[in-house]
Amino acid sequence: MISKISTGFMAGAVVLALGAGVAYAALAGDEAITARQTCMKASGKAMGTMVPMIKGEKPYDAAAIKAVLDADGAACAKWAEFWPADSMTSKTLKTRALPAIWSDPKGFEAAGGTYYKAFTELAATTDEAGFKAKFPALGAACGGCHEKFRAPAP
Ligand code: HEC
Repeated sequence: MISKISTGFMAGAVVLALGAGVAYAALAGDEAITARQTCMKASGKAMGTMVPMIKGEKPYDAAAIKAVLDADGAACAKWAEFWPADSMTSKTLKTRALPAIWSDPKGFEAAGGTYYKAFTELAATTDEAGFKAKFPALGAACGGCHEKFRAPAP
């Protein structure tokens, strides 16, 4: 059905669809959505390993922390490619990325930079005191970006 609609109409439909919450996108956009969600899942997994150590529910484990941060770093390595304009919406995938990512690129880049700095500093720690000192900045960096640039869970 959609394939019979002219390209010109589609372009207009994309603009209109943004307000209506209906989604259209090309494959490149879908690949970016999948890649960034894989990255974020790895970040979530890293949190799942580290938070119990911060809370004192599990003993500090430098090797376990390194493993999840390495996996997270690898999954997020192509971060700069995760946000093409045609990944704002998708016909087939659900995305919680907010249009503010593209309307406020400087703010989004700053939130990404804050995260990257916190991540790098945490990954460089080698003992429990360092880990506990650097962890809060990473948690804040996740939340700081999600607040402005990610839609709440449905
Ligand atoms: C610079 C912005 C930014 C930072 C920093 C950030 N996120 Fe996200 N996160 C997003 C956006 C945008 C989405 C929605 C992606 C989508 O659905 O396309 C998301 C989605 C997620 C998801 C849901 C993934 C899924 O299954 O679809 C999790 C989990 C997550 N983030 C965890 C984290 C954690 C943990 C951190 C910090 C270690 C973090 N994020 C840092 C922007 C960010």
